[in-house]
Amino acid sequence: MTFGREIDEVPAFELIARYLEAGGNFLDTADVYSAGRSEEIVGKAIEHCRADVVLATKVRFPMGNGPNDQGLSRKHLIQGLEASLRRLNTDYIDLYQVHGWDAHAPLEETLSALSALVRQGKVRYIGASNFAGWQLVKALSISESRGFEKFVSVQLQYSLVERSIEYEIVPACQEIGIGIIPWGPLGQGFLSGKYRRDQLPPEGSRLATAEPDWEEHWSRRATEVNWHILDAVQSIAGETGRSASQVALNWLLHQPAVSAVSVGARSTAQLDENLGAVGWELTEEQLGRLDVVSRPRRMYPYPNRL
Ligand SMILES: NC(=O)c1ccc[n+]([C@@H]2O[C@H](COP(=O)([O-])OP(=O)(O)OC[C@H]3O[C@@H](n4cnc5c(N)ncnc54)[C@H](OP(=O)(O)O)[C@@H]3O)[C@@H](O)[C@H]2O)c1
Repeated sequence: MTFGREIDEVPAFELIARYLEAGGNFLDTADVYSAGRSEEIVGKAIEHCRADVVLATKVRFPMGNGPNDQGLSRKHLIQGLEASLRRLNTDYIDLYQVHGWDAHAPLEETLSALSALVRQGKVRYIGASNFAGWQLVKALSISESRGFEKFVSVQLQYSLVERSIEYEIVPACQEIGIGIIPWGPLGQGFLSGKYRRDQLPPEGSRLATAEPDWEEHWSRRATEVNWHILDAVQSIAGETGRSASQVALNWLLHQPAVSAVSVGARSTAQLDENLGAVGWELTEEQLGRLDVVSRPRRMYPYPNRL
């Protein structure tokens, strides 16, 4: 998401090369990221190894000012896919995701159009993003009754500082058997531990540059509850000899229904650190401490395992 925005082509190539070298194979982008620039950069970076990469992109948000330049209608889905294929310089997408719910497009039409794209060989699997539990269940039920392709995954914001999907969406995913791909796994950098209670966020960082209505705006991250969560993460980092980012990512990998974590990184140093989140395990006791300190408040009628 940051390619073409925080980082341009050359450093992005370097990041992707490092990730692939370390054994990573899943890359996620979207048509709307930097108005298509992110897709162009990813496409160029994987030219030599396209078949080895599980390439995911998304469609839904405006790519122009016209009424059909956005949404999940058949018209925009076909147009959006063709444009993504061109920018990514490939003839198929491994995971084509709808970037959010579209109340104006009938879900039957969306699923029927996506299924046609799979049948044409242009898409391998379909996924959703930012859907509520009932929306996922409704989609599955339509796919089953009409013989359409089913969503296999859903991308959702999920981290130690944003666990609200556990009320309703995680149980829905477990019930219907689809995988969660968390985005914002470090609370957009907050859980790396580089921010301080008594200081404004460093200039140029994601939290400093976030608009007031963005998830990572400072007012939403620098809360007393979140500082307590970070204290626990840092204390466990000290015990394990790992970094705060590695602890936060390792916690996420232990959560039910999580099948892949989508990490963002601005530099190879950040990426290397984040890749160190695997290959070791938090203990049950440490997972328990992180759970207690970050548990969302009880909300009727949801059970508090939440
Ligand atoms: N489906 C959706 O709606 C949706 C929405 C958002 C994102 N996504 C996807 O999820 C991916 C990850 O999301 P995200 O970027 O929000 O995730 P994130 O991992 O929570 O945040 C990444 C940011 O944190 C900072 N950071 C990362 N590693 C660090 C480290 N080790 N030490 C210090 N700072 C570190 C960097 O920003 P600074 O250097 O500026 O601090 C980086 O840009 C995106 O690239 C995108 O593909 C999907």
